[in-house]
Amino acid sequence: MSNSSIDSLQNETRVFPPSPEFAANSVADAGLYARAAENRLEFWAEQARDLHWHKPFTETLDWSNPPFATWFADGQINVAYNCLDRHVLAGNGDRVAFHWEGEPGDTRTVTYAELTAEVKKVANVLLSLGIEQGDRVAIYLPVIPEAVIAMLAVARIGAVHSVVFGGFSAESIRSRVDDASAKLVITADGGWRKGKVFPLKAAVDDALSAPGSSVEHVLVVKRGENAVDWTDGRDLWWHDQVEAAEPEHEAEAFDAENPLFILYTSGTTGKPKGILHTSGGYLTQAAFTHKNVFDLHPETDVYWCTADVGWITGHSYVVYGPLANGATQVLYEGTPDTPHPGRWWEIIEKYKVSIFYTAPTAIRSFMKLGRQIPQKFDLSSLRLLGSVGEPINPEAWIWYRDVIGAGTTPIVDTWWQTETGAIMISALPGITGAKPGSAQVPMPGIKIDILSEDGTRVDPPHGGLLVVSEPWPSMLRGIWGDPDRYQETYWSKFSAIEGNKYFAGDGAHVDADGDIWLLGRVDDVMNVSGHRLSTAEIESALVANPIVAEAAVVGAADEATGQAVVAFVILKSNQADAQTADEASALLRAHVAKTIGAIARPREIFIVAELPKTRSGKIMRRLLQDVAEGREIGDTTTLADTSVMQIISDRLK
Ligand code: WTA
Repeated sequence: MSNSSIDSLQNETRVFPPSPEFAANSVADAGLYARAAENRLEFWAEQARDLHWHKPFTETLDWSNPPFATWFADGQINVAYNCLDRHVLAGNGDRVAFHWEGEPGDTRTVTYAELTAEVKKVANVLLSLGIEQGDRVAIYLPVIPEAVIAMLAVARIGAVHSVVFGGFSAESIRSRVDDASAKLVITADGGWRKGKVFPLKAAVDDALSAPGSSVEHVLVVKRGENAVDWTDGRDLWWHDQVEAAEPEHEAEAFDAENPLFILYTSGTTGKPKGILHTSGGYLTQAAFTHKNVFDLHPETDVYWCTADVGWITGHSYVVYGPLANGATQVLYEGTPDTPHPGRWWEIIEKYKVSIFYTAPTAIRSFMKLGRQIPQKFDLSSLRLLGSVGEPINPEAWIWYRDVIGAGTTPIVDTWWQTETGAIMISALPGITGAKPGSAQVPMPGIKIDILSEDGTRVDPPHGGLLVVSEPWPSMLRGIWGDPDRYQETYWSKFSAIEGNKYFAGDGAHVDADGDIWLLGRVDDVMNVSGHRLSTAEIESALVANPIVAEAAVVGAADEATGQAVVAFVILKSNQADAQTADEASALLRAHVAKTIGAIARPREIFIVAELPKTRSGKIMRRLLQDVAEGREIGDTTTLADTSVMQIISDRLK
């Protein structure tokens, strides 16, 4: 975040209480906090018992071997059964699970009964392809119902999915498939984005082209109708397989700690981390938070979370939380501005969306386009708005409430991470008065502290580091294949003080009312449009290009995307004259997009002769950030060569 937005955060004092009607009909009651405070573990056990357990648990938490936790470990559950069969058996099979809208305007309505029937067939397809409990299945799909069906079918048979966001490159698929030794990839021929079909199968083919891949089959959904290459014996059409599949499939019980999914996310090193989530605890917290934070009345609400299923928000708040709660949702394939900039508002009007959950970057981009666009549509069905992914600046918050929420809807600003699995900090909209820019209070049953570097508690108004002080049901269970990195990344920072503190990587401060304000990452992780990117990962993509000698990447404040990727690159000496700086920079921007994905493409690449380094050789990103944000350059006295910054800034003038 830029300094000015942090200032504006800290000066914000307005509070918006819920309307009396909203408060009166609230799903959550204030007693939740008291019950959680009285007996935290019993509180979570009570939430878990809202799910269907094939075998009830008797033990809630085992924390005897921190930081490795188990929750509800002697219980058995089937996650997909909880999201599907349970609702059908309760007589809600005709309820719409998804109003799906394709980008070109095609639509599908999927009821809970239909979704259940499809998932059963696909579960049988997976079994026929030899997928067993614990096997990993990679999913690389657009936002179409088959993406949800695939995830639930994998879950239903106790296998583990690893969804790879459809915007990622072949190289990113390859590293994820290899890291998890996936046996099967589920993809589509292509998907729709900005009025065009983008190929997906081709990227999978490319990713699997190296010999020795663990992948035995590729299951291909027909969506884009674009031409695809075919590897006989390996590739299978989804529709052929599903058509031939047995319709009945009984959901088997799996241990509560059976792995449910791996989701890769950026850390501070070049290699993405495979965050591992398991079944019972994850589903408990996803369902509990979804119901209470979004005040879900499943019989009447239409809920829309705009996240792609390739991100954790799509996992927890499109698939598992809402489906466990029997919600009716909107699922939309495309971009907000195709074919016109009011597409999202048109969808809200069309399906009478009542709960809407999106990211600040989207809100800011709509703000820029002007209120006249949403004002053309009837948004009166909306009664609750949510925000996730990055701090929301008060200006955007107020615009969101006034223009989208008719000046009346509560807004929940939800803080959480891929690692936390579900929402950790948020207002409960019928109970808490909302403060623009603050994520506010820990969820009932969640213990958060703000600590200084030495582990002492920081009191308002000072800022510090955000930690989770007690284990929580949907916490990550580890990093796939790398227990040491799990320990080191999240649990070592405060290991000298008593108790196990999960270090989130975010800075925060608490105000006099006890409300928490998030201040952005404190590590080398950037947040671009609410998506996590690692400076090290982009640097390693850059230096992998033969023209690059050295690279440094920083996240620079950006009005639209929160942060933007800015790179500083030293070319190899034989390259300096081979092309102009502009040509080199264009080539390298395209190279990063190809290597990682378009979201990682740097906004700017500066070709420089030197990089600022300390005497021990560490790049001083803070100084580069000053340059990237157009600020006066800060203290350079610790540089090995203090003239370097002068050279860089002269060159860029
Ligand atoms: C940031 C997304 C401020 C934060 C669910 C966190 C937020 C990272 C908020 C996780 C929020 C997420 N206010 N910052 N409401 N929500 N963040 O893993 O820096 O993609 O550490 O999970 O996003 O990003 P991730």
